[in-house]
Amino acid sequence: MLRLEQSWTPEGSEHGGFRFTLVNAGTDPLAPRLFCYSSMTRLKRDATATGGDLARSVADHVEIALTGTLPPGGSVEIAVDGLTHKPTNRTQGALAAWLELADGAVATIEIGDLQPPAGTDAGPRKIWPEGDLTVPLAMTPWPAHCDVAAFGAAVRFYPADGSDGAMFASVAALHRRLFPADPAPLSLTPVEEGRAVEVYHDAALPDGGYRLTFGDTVTLHHSDADGLRHGVLALAQMAHGALTDVRFQVPLKGAITDAPRFGWRGCHLDVARNFHGASTVTRLLDIMAWLKMNHLHWHLTDDEGWRLPSRAFPALNTVGATRRRGGPLFPHYADGPDGQSGFYSEEEVANIRAHATALGITIMPELDLPGHVTALLASVQDLTDPDEPADSYRSIQGYPNNALNPALPRTYEVVSTLINEVAALFPDSPLHIGGDEVDEASWRQSPAAQRLAKDEGLSSTQALQAHFMRKAHAMVAGHGRLTGAWDEAADGGGVDRDGTLLFAWRSVEKTAELIEAGYDVVATPGQAYYLDMIEAPGWDEAGTSWAGAVSPQKTYTFEPSAGLPDGPGRLVGVQAGIWTEHLNSVARLNAILFPRLAAIAEAGWTNPKAKNWPRFAALSRLIPTL
Ligand code: ACM
Repeated sequence: MLRLEQSWTPEGSEHGGFRFTLVNAGTDPLAPRLFCYSSMTRLKRDATATGGDLARSVADHVEIALTGTLPPGGSVEIAVDGLTHKPTNRTQGALAAWLELADGAVATIEIGDLQPPAGTDAGPRKIWPEGDLTVPLAMTPWPAHCDVAAFGAAVRFYPADGSDGAMFASVAALHRRLFPADPAPLSLTPVEEGRAVEVYHDAALPDGGYRLTFGDTVTLHHSDADGLRHGVLALAQMAHGALTDVRFQVPLKGAITDAPRFGWRGCHLDVARNFHGASTVTRLLDIMAWLKMNHLHWHLTDDEGWRLPSRAFPALNTVGATRRRGGPLFPHYADGPDGQSGFYSEEEVANIRAHATALGITIMPELDLPGHVTALLASVQDLTDPDEPADSYRSIQGYPNNALNPALPRTYEVVSTLINEVAALFPDSPLHIGGDEVDEASWRQSPAAQRLAKDEGLSSTQALQAHFMRKAHAMVAGHGRLTGAWDEAADGGGVDRDGTLLFAWRSVEKTAELIEAGYDVVATPGQAYYLDMIEAPGWDEAGTSWAGAVSPQKTYTFEPSAGLPDGPGRLVGVQAGIWTEHLNSVARLNAILFPRLAAIAEAGWTNPKAKNWPRFAALSRLIPTL
């Protein structure tokens, strides 16, 4: 049994270093030759080590050569200096570590939390605000207009004679999946203590809209299939609250008139950094549907893994989907020496898509191009300029040469094949082609790219990137689909406005610039909507923090149209960002996603005038988790 204790040592270089104490708590002597660890607080290229020789440092992976032996009960001190940034909490040190031994064996190391310098504030624990409830209705997101005059005890709702019960059946099944231990709020046939609901179509209601009236009868008017789903969900939520929590009742008199504020109420899920299987994705879709969210942005490819099935390039599902010690894709984050692997089969993709469609959710798959493609480059041959030196630039996450080359015909052959494949897997979906974080230094040492730049008058890396993005956009448009891309796709001349939807993540100022430039935009600002950000400052928090601490109240009160030139004009919606470098299990996802995911659902649905933080906070404990 090996154990690593670790602390941040801020003295030394700008952001300091780590001090590791490796303890042999076992009974056998060990002869370590290499100490390996992964940390998202990476090392600068001029970092140094003591206690061993720094042998390799790529992205989050570090190897330090050791000599000597480690007797039972003995320990060894190793230190590194030259961090890329200051760690802010206990999870920003080594997330996994192991030893490679002189006899070729590998020994996994149990690791403790990163310890702070003396006097560091531990911070508050999980923020579940108490909140305040003035209207005893359980509804998240809150409706546009709630004019209820009297409330009563728990009832169940069922469709009146002659009303089609299919949507009641679908929402009842959703409720059962989400809350298997709770009483059913809906029935298809009359029940004791139940109320019949007369269902009518009303073309005058807005898209996705519905109106519920409560009196001698209960009526549900709806605009379309989405409106019907939203109305039945509203009934199910109110009845579920009243059946399970004494604070809630159901309406006896009055009306609820409701419709979504934005057409795009999205949640992004990164399954490349840590793979999450089909059951987690399906459960997230269920939670999204319960919160009336309607787009899953599925981030399926990145440096650390390719998760889409591919017939044209089967190596994407072996090499590109597998991280292992000594492999082209090495272990990352909390993997440990055994790495991890995973991709979705065609059947799983089809099932997940069908599940989403039945819930009124569109899935937008993302191929993150032209940067973030280490896994693709490891799997598909002949995608690099042979005259470009290896490791001629590193991306923001520390990957060497991780972008497709815009000057090579082969790039477009492969991209076109991949877009054809993803278009076939997701008929009718928008297709997201990435575009984020191509490093400024990309392609500077590629003679082919520099020739293209000269020939086409493309004077910057951004202009070369825009050249690539325009071609990829044309391929997506050729399938008759909307192109999604990150906000950098507007840089360097940008992609066409027509048929493009940009996802603005960097700042409100960038979002405003995109709108001024004539793009349709979904707001997904890291500073408010990235759910991997810690909720509060303090050392005991867990997660990433480059966009600061994002409390549930900050997420809730962020107004996405504030600071935009035309108010909500070209803003078509909002989106939560679930990036998973730190989130490798359902437990960790649950610890950080809620209640902020629901806060973004309400931003997408509820008019700002009808929003209310204490009410949201009081309701947020009813939100199901993964
Ligand atoms: C992003 O956060 N790199 C889109």
